Formats: sequence, structure tokens, C-alpha cells
Amino acid sequence: MAAEPAPDVLDAFEAAKGFMPVKEGLALYAAAAEAAALGLPLMEIGTYCGRSTLLLADAARAAGVSVITVDHHRGSEEQQPGWDYHDPDTVDPQVGRMDTLPTFRRTLHRAGLEDHVIAVVGRSPQVAALWNTPLAFVFIDGGHTDEHAVADYEGWAPHVAEGGLLVIHDVFPDPVDEWTGQAPYRIYLRALDSGAFTEISATDSLRVLRRTGAVV
Ligand SMILES: C[S@@+](CC[C@H](N)C(=O)[O-])C[C@H]1O[C@@H](n2cnc3c(N)ncnc32)[C@H](O)[C@@H]1O
Repeated sequence: MAAEPAPDVLDAFEAAKGFMPVKEGLALYAAAAEAAALGLPLMEIGTYCGRSTLLLADAARAAGVSVITVDHHRGSEEQQPGWDYHDPDTVDPQVGRMDTLPTFRRTLHRAGLEDHVIAVVGRSPQVAALWNTPLAFVFIDGGHTDEHAVADYEGWAPHVAEGGLLVIHDVFPDPVDEWTGQAPYRIYLRALDSGAFTEISATDSLRVLRRTGAVV
């Protein structure tokens, strides 16, 4: 049976702002729990308000490792004012731009998971350029344009340790299903084509790949 998050964490996940359905969240947790057994950190690209981070933090807590979650906290294209996924409550009225960092911090604090998460506020490619630590798990759920998805793949996939997992969200093979484009689908195909990753599960739009080869 797949590992499951603690009941209070699952409650917090369901109550948190965000877009991930429970079924995908459970698959994300199971993958994170499995990968965390490698004893290496877990990485998330795209924190938003911390909905998925809660699950990764619970898996990290159980294994005694840390989660690093990267976001500039200014929102993706489809989350800006005027777009379908905009939440006006995420706008900082003093600055006039989105700022999801305060909500993220409250989400994590309420769940008692702050000690297991390192939040990095910045742009994914800039952080990736400085990164030099092998990772048990990389979850790509950042910007959904080709520019952002490709940068996330190129910046982070090489850091997945042998036997570790690369998880990609919002993979829509059928363009009819797309809501923010098919860039995540294209990096998923690229990961498989590289020969470095093998798919181990698919749960709706969540794909879990294991690093089984050397070259990304
Ligand atoms: C779909 S949301 C993440 C949802 C979150 N994983 C969850 O399940 O609730 C995407 C996030 O990626 C962030 N983002 C987009 N492009 C980014 C980039 N280049 N660097 C860092 N963060 C980015 C946005 O600010 C946004 O918060």
C-alpha cells in the first residue's frame, strides 16, 4: 500500500489555497515518501501558497530530510489579474503585485511544518544556476510557458540522483485538456526521450519518473 500523509496534514492540504486535486496530492506524497528514503533533500519548483509543499514537508519530516521550495511569489502568467486563475487576495495592496509568500508562511506554520522546509524566494533558473547538491526528488510545478518549463527541466533534472524521482505536474497529452498549454507535457516527453528517466506512474496530470540513466 502506498504511503499516505498524516491525517492533519491531509486536512491542511485540502484547506490550503492552490490547484492540486487530492488524488494527485496523494500520488505526490507517495512519490516523495519513497524518494525521501534515499536520505537526500526534496526540491519543489513552484510553491504558490504551500498546498503541495505541505505534503512534501510531511514526507520529509518522516524521513529526516528537508524540502527546498523555490518561487518568486509573484505568480505565474495565468495567475495575474484578468486571468482565470487569479485570486485577488494574493495581491499585496502596497506593492500592487501578487505576493503569495505571506499565505505560504501561514499555511506552513498552521500545519507545524516550518522546520522541515527551506523557502527560497527567487527565479528558478537563477537558483538552479547556483545549485550543487544531489536531490532525491524534484517536483516541477512552476511557470507553464515553454520558456519556464524548459528552464525548470534543464536547471533541475540533472540534479536528480540516480534512483531519485522527477515529478511533473499539469502534463496534458491531449491539447483539448490543456488549460495553461502543453509545455509541461513537452518537458515530460523530453525527459523520457533523454534516456535518463523511466516513467513509473501517472495519476491524472501528475507524472512520476525515476532517474535510471546518466545523461539528462
Ligand atoms: C501552479 S503554481 C504552484 C502550485 C503549487 N505547487 C501548489 O500545488 O499549490 C506555480 C508557481 O510557480 C511560480 N513561478 C512561475 N514561474 C517561476 C519562475 N521562473 N521561478 C520561480 N517561480 C516561478 C509562480 O509564482 C507560482 O506561484
